[in-house]
Order: sequence, then C-alpha cells, then structure tokens
Amino acid sequence: MLTRRSFATRLGAAAAASCMLPEMAYAQRAAVNFTDLPKDMVWLNANENPAGPPQVSISAMQATLPTANRYHYQEFHGIYEVIARSDGLAPEQVLVGAGSSEALHIAVDVFTSPTRPLITVAPTYELPVELARALGRRVVLTNLRDDYTADVHALAQAAEQSHGGLIYLCNPNNPTSAITTRQDLAWLVANLPANTTLLLDEAYIHFGETPEFASALPYVHQGRDVIVTRTYSKIYGMAGLRVGYGAARPDIIARMAPLRINVISIVSARAVVAAVEDASNILPERRAALAHTRRELCAWLLDRKVKFIPPQANFVMIDCGRDSREFISAMPKLGVAPGRPFPPLTNMLRVSIGTGRDMAKFREVFWKVYKG
Ligand SMILES: Cc1ncc(COP(=O)(O)O)c(C=O)c1O
Repeated sequence: MLTRRSFATRLGAAAAASCMLPEMAYAQRAAVNFTDLPKDMVWLNANENPAGPPQVSISAMQATLPTANRYHYQEFHGIYEVIARSDGLAPEQVLVGAGSSEALHIAVDVFTSPTRPLITVAPTYELPVELARALGRRVVLTNLRDDYTADVHALAQAAEQSHGGLIYLCNPNNPTSAITTRQDLAWLVANLPANTTLLLDEAYIHFGETPEFASALPYVHQGRDVIVTRTYSKIYGMAGLRVGYGAARPDIIARMAPLRINVISIVSARAVVAAVEDASNILPERRAALAHTRRELCAWLLDRKVKFIPPQANFVMIDCGRDSREFISAMPKLGVAPGRPFPPLTNMLRVSIGTGRDMAKFREVFWKVYKG
C-alpha cells in the first residue's frame, strides 16, 4: 500500500526530476527531509480539512464504486446542473473539472497570450503564476499593501499598461489569509481596463467571517469579464477527490470548454452531489468548528505576543520574527509539518488549521522552536 510516508519517500527520490506536478513541487519547496518523518505527523501544510469527506459523500461513493467500470457520460449533464444550481448558477455558466485547478489552468491558458500577461500579487497561490511562465507568458507581480491586502489600483494599472491581461486574485489570499474587501472588489470590477479578464480564486471563500468580505459570483451574473473558481477540496474536505469548477458568462465558459480534460470521476461526482444536497447542514457546522479552532490559535499567539496576519481562511500566516525556513525544517522532525516558504514574506510561516488536538501539538512544537 502506498502510505503517505512511503509516498513521501518516493517523492524524495523524485526530487531530481526536473518536471514535477505542482503539488509535488510545493512539497519539495518545504525543504523537509521526507525520508525520516514521525509516523504520527500532524499535517498542517496544505490547507486540507481534517473533518474529511462528509458521511453522506462516503456512503454515495461506496454505492458508486461497483459501477466505476463505466464513464457514466450520460449522467454528467444532470450532475453538473446540480453542482451549478447549488451555488445559484446555470449549467452553461459553469465548467466542472478536476479540482478548481483545472478551471484555473484553462483560464490562464485561454486568457493570457504572448501579448496579454498574467497580473497578480506576490505572494499568492503559485499555480497560475507557474503555469503562465511555463506557457511562455509574461507575469507581472504587484506588491501587497502594508496590511497584506491586494492593491487593486496597482493591479488595474498594470493591466492598463500592458493593454490588457488576466488579473488573478485569490480571495482570501493563499498564503496571507487576508481578504480583498467587497469595496475593493467592486472598484476593480468597475475599473477593469480593456481586454482584461478578472480571475477570482475563491477556494477559501467559506471560511471568511468579516462582513467586508464578499464573493464575486454576483459579477458573473451581471455578465462582467469575471471568472470565479470554487473547490470541494477545502470546506467540503474532499481534496483527494479532485472536484471544483469555474463560473463565468456562458461565452467565456464556451471559450474554456474545449480545453477540458474529460468528465470527472463518477465516484467523486456522486460524492459532491451528495454533499451539496446536504450543504445547509455541512457548511455551518464546518465553518463554526474551523472558526473556533482558529480563534483559539489566534488567542494563544496574541497571548505570547507572536504577530500574525488576521486570518479569514483555514490557515494563519505567523510572523516568526526570523527566517521561517528554520521552523519549516525543524518542526517536521518534532511531528508537525507546516507550510512551505512564501517569498518575499521570508519571516512568515503558513499553518493550516487542523483539529483541536492537531493545534495543541502545533503550539507545543512551534513554541519549542520559537524559544530556540
Ligand atoms: C488558492 C488555491 N486555489 C486552488 C487550489 C487548488 O485546489 P483544487 O485543485 O484542489 O481545487 C489550492 C490548493 O491548495 C489553493 O490553495
């Protein structure tokens, strides 16, 4: 059986390979010696949900497995319709794929070009940036403001100067856990330069608590040049099932659709359908559990006068007061795996929110390394 540990060992061997999948590359960057990890490692490195898939999804998958010899092509129209409607969208406004990664990937491919750059903030989620570079597209990085929020004026200005492009904005941003406010979002949408598309990555949208926070889906309904991506990997706890979607005007979806890989796994699809049909129970419960554990961690950090960026996602960016690589290499040996480095925020450590027990272990190990 390929355990997480044996997989990690193989990953170490694969380090030399020049062409790695994004998440493998991210794991490598964490600078962890994957060959010698404690068996009971607490994984706080990939913003996963410790609650796992909802029980209704597990039951749906178990019932589906014996029929997985078939593609089930004929069912997908209905499945995609259920997914679209669960967020108030029409099927022609949605492209469902393998995680939100597929829609992000296609959006970058279609809406950047040799003359239209990808424009974003630094740091942010690396996938769109690295894909654009791999495709030979120019990437323009803008600085965050002092409060770690995206400077929407700088993003619009960069698009104006480039005579158009694709602006990628992750909200809340990975890795800062900071939001772009509804006012800033409204300003950016109203001031998008010509030939510019706005790609809003809402992977962590469900975890935001502040009233200043808002989804960009209404702009899709208004027919703006906006693409929103959503995922079932985070609050729904199904990262390994690989389902997400991109939402946009039907003509934008039609431009993206030819680049789709194929239908998604029927097992994953049925898991997602079961989950969205029970969303009114699943989401509030998970949101509350996360907010509680996140508040506990923030209170503990405040108590110890350790600085952090006020979080609105299921992870916290902690200021270590010195290079966070020291923590990234020391903590796994003590049983806790934190996130990878996110330059230029070299003193910051990204930590996913796990269970209450995971976070107790985190506090113990982090404090040991912090104290030196
Ligand atoms: C901001 C952001 N967007 C997208 C993804 C990709 O997730 P998935 O393909 O599982 O939806 C991740 C994964 O961690 C992420 O952090």
